[in-house]
Amino acid sequence: MSIANSQPFRPHHLDPDVRPSEADIESVLLSHDQIQTRVAELGAQISRDYAGKDPVFVSVLVGAFMFTGDLLRNITIPCSLDFMAISSYGKESRSSGVVRVMKDLDESVESRHVIIIEDIIDTGLTLNYLLENIRNRNVASVKVAAFLDKPSRRLTDVKVDYAGFEVPDEFVIGYGLDFAQRYRNFPYVGILRPEVYGGK
Ligand code: PRP
Repeated sequence: MSIANSQPFRPHHLDPDVRPSEADIESVLLSHDQIQTRVAELGAQISRDYAGKDPVFVSVLVGAFMFTGDLLRNITIPCSLDFMAISSYGKESRSSGVVRVMKDLDESVESRHVIIIEDIIDTGLTLNYLLENIRNRNVASVKVAAFLDKPSRRLTDVKVDYAGFEVPDEFVIGYGLDFAQRYRNFPYVGILRPEVYGGK
């Protein structure tokens, strides 16, 4: 494959001249390198645990898109991928507990080993709904891979089988996570300045 026409590699810096919205970040909680190392570990672990099981990953849009890409690059066994889109928060930053399926799976997961991929488990209400939804499809098994786990905010008892990082109760953005649909493209996880979202 020729790369003659590709753009030169440009590393990401915390440089407001390069990416103005980075001024909204109070601090970097998880660097790109930390994330890549941990996601590779998770991929290796899942590949070992699911050898011979041909699992199907169910990625929950939109937040999980970046974690999904990196995780699946680290899966070394046969597997498949499908997506669900659900609406839980709307434009609010607090959980309403109301979950609506906006896009369902394209293929049946009956008798399959399902691994739900989420970006963050906060109150756990969304995951609670998803687990019940997937279990009702007569799957062989269902487990959860979540990039971030914020257990201090839990309102329901859900188990995260593969957790990337446990995070404190801060407003975290980046690596798929947004505030008002922004910051999802950041390759690291940052803590948002409270004045940006009108908090604290
Ligand atoms: C986020 C996240 C989880 C959910 C977790 O989704 O992706 O689905 O909230 O919160 P909970 O544990 O309190 O239920 P969000 O509705 O923000 O949508 P997004 O993935 O499109 O950002």
